Amino acid sequence: MYGTEQIQKLQKSTLSFLQQTGEQNSVVPVNELEQLRDLLRFHEYRYYVLNDPLISDAEYDSLYKLLQRTEQLYPDQVSPDSPTQRVGSSLNQQFITVQHLVPMLSLDNSYNAEDLIDFDRKARELSNLDLIEYCIEPKFDGASISLIYENDRLVRAATRGDGVEGEDITTNIKQIKSIPLTAAFSSYGIRQIEIRGEIIMSKQAFHGYNAQLVAQGQSPLANPRNAASGSLRMKDPREVAQRNLDAFLYHISYYIRDEGTTLTHQNKPTLLDTHSGSLQLLWEMGFRSPQKEKKVVRGIDEVIEYCLAFEKIRDDLGYEIDGMVVKVNDIALQEKLGMTSHHPRWAIAFKFKARQATTRLRAIEFQVGRTGAVTPVAKLDPVYLGGVTVSSISVHNEDYIKEKDLNIGDAVLIERAGDVIPQIVKSLPELRDGTEQEILFPKQCPVCKSQLFKEEGEAVWRCINIECEAQVVEKIIHFVSKDAMDIKSFGEANVRKFYELGFLKDIPGIYRLPYEQIGVLDGFGKKSLENLQNAILVSKQQPLYRLIYGLGIRFVGETTAKTLANAVENVLDFTTKTEEELLLLEDVGIKVAKSIQHFFQNEQNIQMLGELKELGLQLHNEKKEVLAAGALTGKTFLFTGTLAKLKRSEAEAMAEEQGGVIVSGVSAKLNYLVVGEDAGSKLEKAKKINTIKIITEDEFLSLF
Ligand code: IVH
Repeated sequence: MYGTEQIQKLQKSTLSFLQQTGEQNSVVPVNELEQLRDLLRFHEYRYYVLNDPLISDAEYDSLYKLLQRTEQLYPDQVSPDSPTQRVGSSLNQQFITVQHLVPMLSLDNSYNAEDLIDFDRKARELSNLDLIEYCIEPKFDGASISLIYENDRLVRAATRGDGVEGEDITTNIKQIKSIPLTAAFSSYGIRQIEIRGEIIMSKQAFHGYNAQLVAQGQSPLANPRNAASGSLRMKDPREVAQRNLDAFLYHISYYIRDEGTTLTHQNKPTLLDTHSGSLQLLWEMGFRSPQKEKKVVRGIDEVIEYCLAFEKIRDDLGYEIDGMVVKVNDIALQEKLGMTSHHPRWAIAFKFKARQATTRLRAIEFQVGRTGAVTPVAKLDPVYLGGVTVSSISVHNEDYIKEKDLNIGDAVLIERAGDVIPQIVKSLPELRDGTEQEILFPKQCPVCKSQLFKEEGEAVWRCINIECEAQVVEKIIHFVSKDAMDIKSFGEANVRKFYELGFLKDIPGIYRLPYEQIGVLDGFGKKSLENLQNAILVSKQQPLYRLIYGLGIRFVGETTAKTLANAVENVLDFTTKTEEELLLLEDVGIKVAKSIQHFFQNEQNIQMLGELKELGLQLHNEKKEVLAAGALTGKTFLFTGTLAKLKRSEAEAMAEEQGGVIVSGVSAKLNYLVVGEDAGSKLEKAKKINTIKIITEDEFLSLF
């Protein structure tokens, strides 16, 4: 995209600007602003698209700051496509639904050479050709997006959604530095263009991100695809910027040319006539397209050869791919072949096989879950399998072990299909040497030693001692988890630690933690303790369905918990509900009804709910009072502590705009106390008044 001469020029200008950054608070003259912006765009391209920076990170930062300072001095000179404008405002974004210019179809899949041969035969029959030219490229494993550029500017980015409509995520996409905010499509006479691609997280960024999650006591994500797609819908674009996302652009779905524009290559073939040409055009415009990874071949035999060869090197790439995409190269022929209602007839995905490995089964560990189910987990010699090291795999239950003919000491074949959890495919009895041992299922709970039971027709052995330590801990872990009470910064590791130290022995204990003792533990600074304390405090206001789900009643998932919450005024109403009444509820069958009754007829459970009520949790069904426009009318707000995302004045203005009233002190008249960092006496006072809703900044934002 940049010629040698141009690069030399840009390097010279880099040096000259860098000299100007030496002085503190230096700025550049207004007439050099655009030159400085171009320079930063060039260095972003070198770094993010080519992976080949010409200056150090520190030098880039000082140039960026020079631009930022100058733009601050001349605010009317800031252009929307300036590199400084990637970072959006931190406000809570709403993602509005938008329509794609062309529906985003998915691809038909093929799994072997025969499927590809079949695809080629159909395409040749439909087009009356003996030989078709194909372009092959990786199938990136991420989240698909569509970008629209108008008059050379990125004006909209959207998720795939249902293929017809997606969500507008422009602000978040602008945080991804390998996506240019401007691209010189007008030099091709193109006024508007829609481009498709995939947002990915590199393997390196993914490992870094997971390490961060684990350090914060959260669960790591299963794969880079989930990490990428989850990141796209984050409410705060600054967080997106920190995720180190990347993008491959692989398809031009639509474009309009300027009327009367003479194309550079008029009457001659243009890049837009072929798919490989489109990839090159995108590359020249500064996008990361699979320009280097693609291959143009003639006939399906060469397609098969390239797909199989690429499969062999997939683990060497810096990002995940789950197959190859084979596309008819000639765009006119693509149009002729057209599409079915689901997918184009001119392209097909070639899906890679599940990754397999052999290793040895060394032992079986029996784990007790929160419902008392005892799950056997196979401990394996660690083996590297498609990006992760696998050393243990759940083998579900006794029947499964028999079915797979597993013994301790067996060589086993394991596989990971795409992103899913690894599985044992089979044992390899032909490799046995007689030292293998049968797997014996325990008759007693491995944790509390009480006798295990198996219900008729079930494959699972259970510990039915509800005081069993393992179950208690798992129940607490479930209660604080994201989909239940969502007590941030608690997490599995902390539950286990507090339990072992005797700080926590049941669910109500979460609300009676001895913070003074926790504060002296390693890894608990003032800040993390405060975060934990605040998170526990605000969880008291969680809606009833979260509490019901958090109780871990057997067969009551999130959806049923919502149904149940809507069916009562107070959770204790379930103590008097008959089976018939429960069966009238949606999705409640006999199994679920019995389980609910069983839970609410248990003395210990009722006592626990009583304790939770005394500790200030909501047992009654408070219909959400907010959300509707102007719905905060008359509600009183007070802010305390330092807010992380909003200025105090901004937050107050937001509340007032919706009819809220700002008050100056804590009293029984206060409806919402919004708590920021280092909140002090106001928070203490508010805790004593039951009717005040104590909420975090994020929860405040979610009111809008
Ligand atoms: S072409 C009409 N090319 O795979 C053409 N898709 O199952 C549309 N994908 O939704 C897609 N890499 O998210 C195409 N090189 C590639 C791709 C690719 C990944 C994804 C894309 C699409 C899905 C289809």
